[in-house]
Amino acid sequence: MATLTAPEVSIEQDAFPINGTDYVEFYVGNAKQASHYYRAAFGYQLIGYRGPETGVRDRASYLMQQGKIRLVLTTPLHPTSSIAEQLHRHGDGVKDYALWVDDARLAYATAIERGAIAVHEPRVESDEHGDVVIAAIATYGDTIHSLVERRNYHGLFLPGFKAVTPHYQPSDVGLKYVDHCVGNVELGQMNRWVDYYGTVMGFRNLITFDDADISTEYSSLMSKVMANGNDKIKFPINEPASGKKKSQIEEYLDFYGGPGAQHLALATDNILATVTALRDRGVEFLSVPTSYYAELQERVGTIDEPIEELAALGILVDRDPDGYLLQIFTKPVEDRPTLFFEIIQRKGAKSFGKGNFRALFESIEREQELRGNL
Ligand code: FE2
Repeated sequence: MATLTAPEVSIEQDAFPINGTDYVEFYVGNAKQASHYYRAAFGYQLIGYRGPETGVRDRASYLMQQGKIRLVLTTPLHPTSSIAEQLHRHGDGVKDYALWVDDARLAYATAIERGAIAVHEPRVESDEHGDVVIAAIATYGDTIHSLVERRNYHGLFLPGFKAVTPHYQPSDVGLKYVDHCVGNVELGQMNRWVDYYGTVMGFRNLITFDDADISTEYSSLMSKVMANGNDKIKFPINEPASGKKKSQIEEYLDFYGGPGAQHLALATDNILATVTALRDRGVEFLSVPTSYYAELQERVGTIDEPIEELAALGILVDRDPDGYLLQIFTKPVEDRPTLFFEIIQRKGAKSFGKGNFRALFESIEREQELRGNL
C-alpha cells in the first residue's frame, strides 16, 4: 500500500504533453433545463450555445463556465442518434473529458501508435475566429477524450458556438477548476485502464488504494490514481471488490449500464463559503455522523477552519505528509445513482482523503439502502 506521491515529470520527459482540462461534456435528457440547474444550484454562467439556431440540426449544446471549469451540456434532438442511444442506456452523465493539447494531430497519432482506441481522426472546425483541430480517443465505456488544439482559434469556445448573455445569471459559488475525475470500471478491469493511460498517454500511478484501505462491513473497492506528466490531469479509476453486499461501484455500473465517470472533483479556495452557497441553492450533500467531528482534531491536528463550522456543513478533513485537504460529496445529481460531485479545497495535501473513506462509504451505503440497492 503506497500513499506517497510520485514526483512530477519534467516537460522534456513528458511522453504526452497535455496543457490541462479543456472541457467536460455531458449528455443530458434536457439541456435547456440542465443549464438552468447548473446555474441556479452550482453557480455556473451560461455563456455559449450551439444548436438548430446556429446551424446544428441534431443536438443542442449549452456552454457553462465557472472559474476555469467549462461544462458542455448536450442533448439529442431526435430519437435515433447515437447521442440518444447513449442517453437511453446511461441516463445523464459525462461523455467527453476533453484534453487541451498543443498539437492534436501529433497527440492523436502518438496515442493511436501506442494502442489507443480511435473515436475519430483529427478534423478541422472553422469559423470567422479561426480553426480548431479536434481528434478523439475512447476510454472506459462510452466515455471519450477529445484532444483539442486551439492555438489558431480566438473565438469564445469552439466553432459554431455563439455567445449568449441570458438575463438569468446567478452569482458563482467560487468553483475554480476540475481537480480530478473518477471513473468506475467493472471488476477486474481497473488494471486494464491503468495500463491504457500509462501506455497511451504516459500517465503514472500516483497512488493505489486496496480493499484494506477502502472497505466497510458491506462493500469495498480498489482504486488507482493516474496522473499525467504535469499533474494537472488526475484520473482515479475504481473497480468493485467483493464484500458482503452490493458495493457502491456495482450499483453505479448497474444503473449507468457499464463503466463511466463516477464523480468530478471541483476545487475551491474557500470551501466554507462555497458549500454554504451550494446548500442555500439546494445542492444536497452526503452527511457523516457527529462522532466524525469528535475525533477530527486528534486525527488531523491544527487546521485553520473552525471544526464546528465544518461539522455544521458536513465537510470532511484529511491530512497527508504535504498538508491537509477539505472535501465534501454531493448526492447523485440524477435520479439514477450515478454521477455526483466532490467539492475540494487543498491546503498543501496532494492526496484524495483516504482517512475519510470509511465515513464516506458508510454514508453512501446508508443512501444505497434507502434506494433498496445494498
Ligand atoms: Fe474524489
